[in-house]
Amino acid sequence: MPDIAFIKPALPKHGAMVLLVTEDATPAGLHAALDKATGGGITRALEAASFKGSKGQVATLWAPLEGIGKVVAIGLGKTEEVNAERVEAAGGTLYGLIAKEREAMVAAEGLPAPLAASLGLGLLLKSYRFDRYRTTLKEAEKPKLEKVAIATDALAAAKAAWATQRAVADGVFLTRDLVSEPPNVLTPAEMAERCKELEKLGVQVEILGPKEMKKLNFGALLGVAQGSVQEPRMVVMQWNGASTTAAAKKKAQKPVAFIGKGVTFDTGGISIKPAAGMEDMKWDMAGAGTVIGLMAALAGRKAKVDVVGLVGLVENMPGGNAQRPGDVVTTASGQTVEVINTDAEGRLVLCDVMHYAQQRFDPRFMVDLATLTGAIIIALGHEHAGMFSNDDTLAQQLSAAGTPVGEAVWRMPLGEAYDKQIKSDIADMKNVGGRPGGSITAAQFIQRFVNKGRPWAHLDIAGVAWSGKELPTAPKGATAFGVRLLDRLVADHYEG
Ligand code: BES
Ligand code: MN
Ligand code: ZN
Repeated sequence: MPDIAFIKPALPKHGAMVLLVTEDATPAGLHAALDKATGGGITRALEAASFKGSKGQVATLWAPLEGIGKVVAIGLGKTEEVNAERVEAAGGTLYGLIAKEREAMVAAEGLPAPLAASLGLGLLLKSYRFDRYRTTLKEAEKPKLEKVAIATDALAAAKAAWATQRAVADGVFLTRDLVSEPPNVLTPAEMAERCKELEKLGVQVEILGPKEMKKLNFGALLGVAQGSVQEPRMVVMQWNGASTTAAAKKKAQKPVAFIGKGVTFDTGGISIKPAAGMEDMKWDMAGAGTVIGLMAALAGRKAKVDVVGLVGLVENMPGGNAQRPGDVVTTASGQTVEVINTDAEGRLVLCDVMHYAQQRFDPRFMVDLATLTGAIIIALGHEHAGMFSNDDTLAQQLSAAGTPVGEAVWRMPLGEAYDKQIKSDIADMKNVGGRPGGSITAAQFIQRFVNKGRPWAHLDIAGVAWSGKELPTAPKGATAFGVRLLDRLVADHYEG
């Protein structure tokens, strides 16, 4: 991971130099200085390369000046259209162009301070790698980039914006690490153990095991866990950033709550999945991984909010003691569930954790995240997470928060007719509602565990938690979708 620093503008003596170019603004600052120092060579070279500064356009100029081995020009399009998302994407592109350099300097005087920080964020997020299990990487295959200096006139403001962005990037990286880990390493117990790292940031972390969960009557979660030799865990994380003093605590608002599905591996259980692609089910803990990374981001940037994050961690395995299709389990809420399909396990994990979260914390609102259904991928592909909500305000806030950070959500319907699909002949409900509207009936199931009057949103992130292709600010693999979206939701509406 490169180190990112902000500096006062001055022509570099070595390394690579990066120019951010719009279609309409005349080159100024370091860009103009470099052009002058090269006798107009930069302008001539960019013209020869037909470089106009349009969005996403890049040009590389080699050794235009003693010491400067490489100049990279990146187009940002029209000045009036330059926003955080575009600058982040440029930062991501930039990383690809300079990863093999040791040092680079970016002439960012044309950008306001927050956007200079956005450029650093895009670059840093794109530089993520998970190389823990590669022992034979050749030197030539490794990135070399150690330091990126971003030159800006608004130094103090850029540094302040960066402190926040850096904490969010740390949260994203924690999530990506968790989601990337193989399932033999990242068992429920190990994942719970890793939550303890958040204590360094001031987060209170409690870990509950099967004995404690039995006492809490977590019949649904424990039913999923019983087929595995790996013990389940629930982790409760609290960050009290609003109520730091006793006086503030007294009049503090109720906390906001985030709940994550953490199935460290989903074989389907007795309703076993087909072999092809089953390895992808190591990612079935991404909801929990996102909640953990989000807590790291909020605590890392000292967000002025009281927030609780709860994750239910289990492994879904077949075995002599595994739950059967046809079993009836009693959830912590007292409601009973006929388990028709042991592969619809995520909702069984979430329902107990969500009930507990409400009983203990009475949160202002609750958002759950889960790689819950394959059906949401059929509906929305990999471009949006599915959002289900009982509250128009919360739904609008989430929609608005997602767009600028490139984590878009699309609202899906809920309704009584869908709810009917999960009626059971012998219990209060069954855990599947048939193929039609599979993501919606899953959400209906979860909604049955949301207390009356509580604003709630469910994000089905099955299609967006990992990516088969490179994204503007992420390599292939774990995306950490949701960390930035929910950080933004909190920042926009629930702090101070
Ligand atoms: N973890 C899966 C959902 C999933 C599928 C995520 C594919 C990512 C990619 C979930 O536990 C599951 O198995 N859901 C079933 C539900 C069905 C049995 C009603 C599904 O979507 O097939
Ligand atoms: Mn499943
Ligand atoms: Zn699952």
